[in-house]
Amino acid sequence: MTLPRIVIERCQYLARCSEEPGAITRPFASEAMRCANELVGDWMREAGMAVRRDNIGNLRGRFEGAGETLLLGSHLDSVRDAGKYDGPLGVAVAIAAVQRLHDAGRRLPFAIEVLAFADEEGLRFGSTYLGSRAVAGTFDLADLDRVDADGVTIRDAIRAFGGDPERIDGDKWSGGRVLGYCEVHIEQGPILESRDLPVGVVTAIAGQERHRITFTGEAAHAGTTPMDQRRDALVAASVFVQAVEGYASSTDGMVATVGQLSVRPGAANVVPGEVTLSLDVRHADDALRLMASRHLLDVAAEIAKHRGIGIKTNQISEDATVSCSRRLVSTFSQAVRDLGHPVVELASGAGHDAVAMSALTEVGMLFVRCKGGISHNPAESVTTDDVAVAIDVLSRLLELLAES
Ligand code: GLV
Ligand code: MN
Ligand code: MN
Repeated sequence: MTLPRIVIERCQYLARCSEEPGAITRPFASEAMRCANELVGDWMREAGMAVRRDNIGNLRGRFEGAGETLLLGSHLDSVRDAGKYDGPLGVAVAIAAVQRLHDAGRRLPFAIEVLAFADEEGLRFGSTYLGSRAVAGTFDLADLDRVDADGVTIRDAIRAFGGDPERIDGDKWSGGRVLGYCEVHIEQGPILESRDLPVGVVTAIAGQERHRITFTGEAAHAGTTPMDQRRDALVAASVFVQAVEGYASSTDGMVATVGQLSVRPGAANVVPGEVTLSLDVRHADDALRLMASRHLLDVAAEIAKHRGIGIKTNQISEDATVSCSRRLVSTFSQAVRDLGHPVVELASGAGHDAVAMSALTEVGMLFVRCKGGISHNPAESVTTDDVAVAIDVLSRLLELLAES
């Protein structure tokens, strides 16, 4: 079987590692992640890499070479009811590029370490990039006390997964000079498809922040409480959800999303007493994003005040916009050109492990066209031909870095 076909098959195979039957749901430090790590570990070893797992739960495959190290990678965790390629494609393409060197009996003038990250999406704990932050040395130890929906802390989740939460500091990269971090990822947007191009070179990754907001009203009987005497937390939340859409729609380049909403006590005959929701705000201009989130939190407070409802807000994460390094952008571009494809540069609205890795080293990314630009959806799809181009471009990038 050809390498591109193997990559596609591996992504499909990984889809079986899931917490939900019939869907792909792979949260941080779950049995589904253990299953994914086992498969990926085998593939790394087949490609000639020495494999180890760190405390946070990242898998690291090392292909020896002289001196410095080039880091490649992406994530193995997923959102709920995910597609097959967001994350796993980048890991599988990186392994394929190493496999090609291994099969040819080649070593480069630098080592390659493939990092399969444990948490990029933040599905289980809300916080993003737990895996790549640990490697970059920016993991916030206070996060260990964060809890999931069942009240399990990150500390206990790490322990149950076989890591030592007291030694996360030891996961920080300590392997000497790093040449950079390069990540292949599906585009998750429509630009490459609209230009009829298989791959594109990423210039920057938009900043984002996430908040948790709780509206607290009063649970009451749905049959006996007059409409003018209710303190309905869900009605307050719904007014806020509309305000979020309205504000983001009226600001160029702004996106803001309420993607989670939990209603308590959650019964048909009870006026909702408490609603907790998530707010995700993104813009490539950090100042505009900050202005937007401040405004939206003020709006939430006004809605609560107007309705005699309590409000609590909690910032979960914030990441500034990250630029890819000029050197890696131009090397990726050269590789794309060398393979006879036009070069398109594009910015990413989605977050990536490259954001966290930028605290350690310079970063570069290659996007692969995905069908209809659809992602965070089981319909995610890529073609074998485009995957072939991605493997070729990454392999060419390794050559160009080796020559320079
Ligand atoms: C990661 O997929 C993100 O939320 O951008
Ligand atoms: Mn994603
Ligand atoms: Mn991703």
